[in-house]
This record gives sequence, structure tokens and C-alpha cells, in this order.
Amino acid sequence: MVAIQFDYLNDYSHSREVQKPRCNHTILVFFVIWLFATCAFVLYFSHNEEAIQVYLRGLKNEYASKRLVCYYNFPSTKDDLRPENIDAKLCTHIIVGFLKVNSSHELGVTKEQVEILNQLKFLKNKNVDVKVLISVGGAGNVKGWSRMVYNHTNRKRFIRSVRIFLENNILDGIDLDWEYPNDINIYPRERIHFTQLVEEFRMHINRNKYKFIVSVAVPYLPFIVDTSYQIYYLNKFADFINLMSYNYHYFSNLTPFTGLNSPLIRSPLDHGIFESLNINDTLIYYQQQGMDKNKINVGLPTFGHSFTLFNQYNNGLYAPSRGYGTVGNQGFASYSDILKFLQSENVLHNFDSATQSPYAVRKLEWVSFDNNDSLALKAKFIMDEGFGGVMMYSLNADDFSGILGKEFSLTRSVKNILVKYS
Ligand SMILES: *[C@@H]1O[C@H](CO)[C@@H](O)[C@H](O)[C@H]1NC(C)=O
Ligand SMILES: *[C@@H]1O[C@H](CO)[C@@H](O)[C@H](O)[C@H]1NC(C)=O
Ligand SMILES: *[C@@H]1O[C@H](CO)[C@@H](O)[C@H](O)[C@H]1NC(C)=O
Ligand SMILES: *[C@@H]1O[C@H](CO)[C@@H](O)[C@H](O)[C@H]1NC(C)=O
Repeated sequence: MVAIQFDYLNDYSHSREVQKPRCNHTILVFFVIWLFATCAFVLYFSHNEEAIQVYLRGLKNEYASKRLVCYYNFPSTKDDLRPENIDAKLCTHIIVGFLKVNSSHELGVTKEQVEILNQLKFLKNKNVDVKVLISVGGAGNVKGWSRMVYNHTNRKRFIRSVRIFLENNILDGIDLDWEYPNDINIYPRERIHFTQLVEEFRMHINRNKYKFIVSVAVPYLPFIVDTSYQIYYLNKFADFINLMSYNYHYFSNLTPFTGLNSPLIRSPLDHGIFESLNINDTLIYYQQQGMDKNKINVGLPTFGHSFTLFNQYNNGLYAPSRGYGTVGNQGFASYSDILKFLQSENVLHNFDSATQSPYAVRKLEWVSFDNNDSLALKAKFIMDEGFGGVMMYSLNADDFSGILGKEFSLTRSVKNILVKYS
């Protein structure tokens, strides 16, 4: 065999004698290019741990390198989403909410919460890349914040308690969700003190070479942004922000008419102050305030809002409403609630193409929601505009039991888009 091969090679080189130098030349050129490419590759990756991760993920093409940050609420009923039913490969980050600031200015955690956090450790066995964060605060959970941020001593105590808790429970970071500093105007300096808290977290991390993530959950209303945050500094000190770009419209006594939970862009029907109540305008505002695109996780909801109409024949956007709908709880409807409603008889399905949002009507019941198609369109817009990721609220409100067949169809639809941009 060996002899035959040599003969063949000899024959080959003899018969192509004229071309031989050119052939060697070409090989040399290719070799040099290959060498350069390899060196560049090795140099780039050996100095950039993150690049290796991104490269490896690209090979697997299974995870998004764009962030998909999913909130998970501690289960509140026996039918709620349990830790073991979370798909470990769906989101890049899972933020578990909500913990408190306790009266000694430390992280307040209940025994039940520690138990759930313990059960979440299995996520890392199934996906080593998934980051699990805890969120402090949440809607209506303002107690303790003001006094904690008040002076350096208190803030230091809080930061230390957070770091110890993260270490003890093998968690990857903290999400600060105070809704909102300086909101009730008890003490106007809360805004500055909150900045100091985020800055001191950053200094604590840098000084000690800790690896944990610090994110901040932020609102969409420019008025609240201005009174509560110094965006320039959040951009500087936080790893990223989770923009709560939903709840733009829901029933209240001040807004007794129908509207969309999370409109992507302005609708021709929006007038006055309502013109800027959409994701696109909010994103432009944040950028004007100095927030980098790659630090923004744009919020998309898995939940919707229900309304009761005054008149079943006046059932478009901004139609008069006299209260919450019957779907969901106090107007707040999970996707599972909404799917059951959509499957009932005589439901009118609408898609508002101006805002890329569906809504459905049945007699006096009016429901704003998102489905896999509207979320895919919104995620595509967010990616095309170059933002760092998508935040979703929440895994609990998605169709986690799989009424439509596959579990978490909404979160999955967003993931499928993000993977394409990774
Ligand atoms: C606050 O939480 C810490 C643990 O983070 C705990 O040691 C402390 O006892 C708590 N304080 C109160 C008043 O509950
Ligand atoms: C910080 O504020 C607390 C009250 O929350 C107070 O007891 C403490 O003395 C203050 N520390 C400093 C250094 O001002
Ligand atoms: C987003 O909003 C800005 C400012 O209102 C507007 O100029 C732009 O056209 C909007 N983008 C889309 C896609 O409508
Ligand atoms: C949404 O789900 C339907 C079926 O349930 C499917 O036909 C459609 O392709 C899905 N759209 C996206 C964007 O995944």
C-alpha cells in the first residue's frame, strides 16, 4: 500500500512538473493566511473569556448570546409554576422575585423563599450558562428602602448581606426593583442615594473582584424616570437595566377605556400624553437620557389586561370601559387565562397592526394580550434596533403547562428570535 501511494505521488509530481512551483506558491499563500487566521483567533479568544462562551454557544446554536431575562415569581398558589417545571435552557437569566429590605437594612428572606431558591439549583445542572438572580422590591414593596439607602453605613450593611446571601446560595446576582425612589416625595434625596447604592455595589464588586451581577428594574414613564433615577449613572454602574415596558394601558378610574398592554410603536389613535405610551418612544427616551442600547433589556409581557366595556358595539381601542374584565384576577390575566378565553365561543380576534398587538372581544369582555406572533415581531424589532436583550415578565404568566402543546410558548417564541441574532 505504502509503495503504491509513493508511486502515485511520484507520478503525479512528474506529470505536473511545470505546475509544481506555482502549486507550492499557492499552498504557501494559503498556509500563511491560515497561520494568521489561527493566530488572530487564538489571541482574540485567549484574551476574552466571554468571546469563548459566545463562540461555543454559537457552535451549539442553542442559547442566545443576546440576553433573555425572565422573571420568576415565588409560587403563590398550588397551581403556580414550580421550580422543577422551569425549562433550564429557555432563558439566559432567571430573576426570582421578590425579596425585601428588612428593618435592620439587610436582605429579608423567608424560609419558604430559601427553600425555593435551593430547588432552583438544579437549573445549573441542566444548563451551566444560566444565571440565577434574586430581585429585591417589586410592585408595592417599598418598605425599608428609604432608610436603607439613607446613609453609607446602612447601604454598606445591605450590600454585605446581599453578597453573603448570594455566595451562600450559589446565586449570580441581584436585581434592584424599588418602585420607586423619591416616588412619594418623602425625601427628595432618595434619587441620589439610590445612585450611591448602585455605585457602592459596583465598587464593592470591583474592589474584591466579585463576579455577581447588579441590575435595576426601571419604569417607562419619563416623569417617574426623571424623579427617581439618574440614568447616566445607572448606565455607568449597573450591568443592565430591566425596562418594565408593559402596563401602558389598563383599567383604572383615571383611564376608564380600553388600551394595549405593550404597544410596540405609536398608534394613530394615540393623542396627547398617550402618544408616548409605547415601547419605541420609551426606548428613545432612555437613550436620550444616556442609557446604552446594549445595557437595556426591553420588557415584554406574557400577561395581559382585561376590561369590561360599556357598549359591546363600541369595542376598539380607547373604547369606554367600566371596570376590569372577568378574565384573570382584577384585570390581570395570565396567558393560560387568556387562552381559555380565546377558546370560548364567539370571540372576535383583532390584530392592531400599528402597534403589532392582538386583542380579543366577546360581548362586554375586552382583553389585551400578546401571543407568540406579536412577541416574535416585537423581539425582532428590539434586535434589529440593536438592544442588549429582552426581559420577560413572567414565566409564571406564560403557558407553562402547555395548553397549546409546548410549554412556555411565549418565552420560547422570543428565544427563537434572539437565537437568530446571536
Ligand atoms: C434581616 O435579615 C438578616 C439576614 O439577611 C437577618 O440576619 C436579620 O436578623 C434580619 N433582621 C430583622 C430585623 O429581621
Ligand atoms: C445612619 O442611619 C441610621 C438610621 O437609619 C442611624 O441610626 C445611623 O446613626 C446613621 N449612621 C450615620 C453614620 O449617620
Ligand atoms: C419611534 O419613535 C420615533 C420618535 O417618536 C419616531 O421618529 C420613529 O419613527 C418611531 N419608530 C417607528 C418604527 O415607528
Ligand atoms: C405561533 O404558533 C402557531 C401555532 O400555535 C404557529 O402556526 C406559528 O408559526 C407560531 N408563530 C411563531 C412566530 O412562532
